[in-house]
Amino acid sequence: MPERILTPCIFTIFGGTGDLTRRKLIPALYNMAVDGLLPDELAVVCVGRRPLDTQEYRDSLLASVTKHSRYPVRTDKWEWLRERIHYFRMDLPDSEGYPLLKAWLDDLDEKAGTQGNRLFYLAVAPSLFEPIVLNLHGNGMVTNNGSWQRVVIEKPFGRDLRSASFLNGVIESVFPPENIFRIDHYLGKEMLRNLMVIRFGNAVFESIWNSRCIDNIQITAAETDGVENRAGYYENSGALRDMLQSHLLQVLALVAMEPPINLDYKSIRDEKVKFLRSLLKMDDEAFRNHIVRGQYGEALLDGKIIRGYRQEAGIHPESNTETFIALRILAGNFRWGGMPFYLRTGKRLAKKTTCVVLEFKSMPEILYFKEYKGLQPNLLEIRIQPEEGISFSFNAKKPGSGNEINTVKMDYCQSCGYENNSPESYERLIADALRNDQTLFTSWEEIEASWSFVDSIARSWEKETASFPNYIPGTWGPAASDELLARYGHHWWNL
Ligand SMILES: NC(=O)c1ccc[n+]([C@@H]2O[C@H](COP(=O)([O-])OP(=O)(O)OC[C@H]3O[C@@H](n4cnc5c(N)ncnc54)[C@H](OP(=O)(O)O)[C@@H]3O)[C@@H](O)[C@H]2O)c1
Repeated sequence: MPERILTPCIFTIFGGTGDLTRRKLIPALYNMAVDGLLPDELAVVCVGRRPLDTQEYRDSLLASVTKHSRYPVRTDKWEWLRERIHYFRMDLPDSEGYPLLKAWLDDLDEKAGTQGNRLFYLAVAPSLFEPIVLNLHGNGMVTNNGSWQRVVIEKPFGRDLRSASFLNGVIESVFPPENIFRIDHYLGKEMLRNLMVIRFGNAVFESIWNSRCIDNIQITAAETDGVENRAGYYENSGALRDMLQSHLLQVLALVAMEPPINLDYKSIRDEKVKFLRSLLKMDDEAFRNHIVRGQYGEALLDGKIIRGYRQEAGIHPESNTETFIALRILAGNFRWGGMPFYLRTGKRLAKKTTCVVLEFKSMPEILYFKEYKGLQPNLLEIRIQPEEGISFSFNAKKPGSGNEINTVKMDYCQSCGYENNSPESYERLIADALRNDQTLFTSWEEIEASWSFVDSIARSWEKETASFPNYIPGTWGPAASDELLARYGHHWWNL
């Protein structure tokens, strides 16, 4: 069990009535309260626009906690948290509200014994980041003088390198870099945190983790859902910006970076940045040959009509937004030179899964591989969600008098043994922000490197109109995604 957080603090959530707060942040705080992690001197101030008072707001949260927490609601624990939650109503772009917010927080600070420490969590649209941050500064709420003030920023961090740089400039003009926590909730997932231990804590893995032994590495983040109620956001973002820029490139960096010199977040960040900067730039031909974009169409699945992306509420009927992307990437560094990384992500795919598969080189076709053509190469599969675990498949003789060979699996299921007890990403990340540990947050340098890679893809796409829709819901995406790998003698491992 992690240690209790001892630092007093007012945790101010801008966007207190939003989906993220209700589905993730408050349930995460409740789980942390059950685990006894939160300090007694804690106040949670939720800022929203709706006309609610604190009692109404507190009452409205119980249903979310009941539905979204991993622990059942225990009256004593819920009451402990409930009485620390407050609602403050204001219109965030309006600077007149901030002096009132300051006075109110200062007053609460005295009552709750929170010693001036503030964690400002921006659970709002990115267009509100600038007015919030500048008004906090303009009203003397970020002094870092004898107390600390930190800011947590949700993704998306910009829409391209230019907007991200602008946003970063605004935030860094108010908060020093060590007090800025850019969340990518994927990084809080248990198996991603485990990845470094697997890689650098086992001689057997680290010594074969290179292009001499590995044939290709595949990273998949597949969803079965469609765009659901996120049309407004998704139409402007698509799979490239929503998933590749942040989650997928972060997973890739953790899989492929060099060993850091220690576990300090700066050392880890430096290695991730170095790897992201080593990704080879593509020319127009490579863009065409190595990247596939897709959009799901309409289909009849299990007797039910599944609407195509263009038929979803809030989506333009001729939308050019991609709901799928697959790509082949090469890194120009010593460890990986020439070895392909295949990444894919999409909505309405065959299975909900996020996983990494390392396909090892096949043995020379001299002994068994000559005789048994169907033998599978060794695979190391790291399952990140929904199931968490790792398995290694290898070839072995079938028991009996014959000489038949089959592929067998050694499997470690991390989530099986810890059902319900494996903390959600947001629990870990909130605790880390309160403890001032940046390890699982994304630095500006990583964001800059990944936007510069993603921008080049977005620019190449602008030159041509895609032929959408081009894949059927419930499949693994467009046929071109399979063809991409087949051209290089590979295929996706749809495990
Ligand atoms: N939802 C998720 O699972 C998720 C996951 C990752 C990242 N994010 C990011 O987190 C942020 C919030 O997402 P969300 O899904 O929670 O959005 P949401 O449900 O639309 O909530 C937006 C929040 O912002 C508040 N707000 C908007 N304009 C305001 C104004 N002028 N003054 C005061 N409050 C205002 C809303 O208050 P009212 O309700 O009173 O209008 C609401 O509390 C977005 O940047 C999103 O991309 C969300």
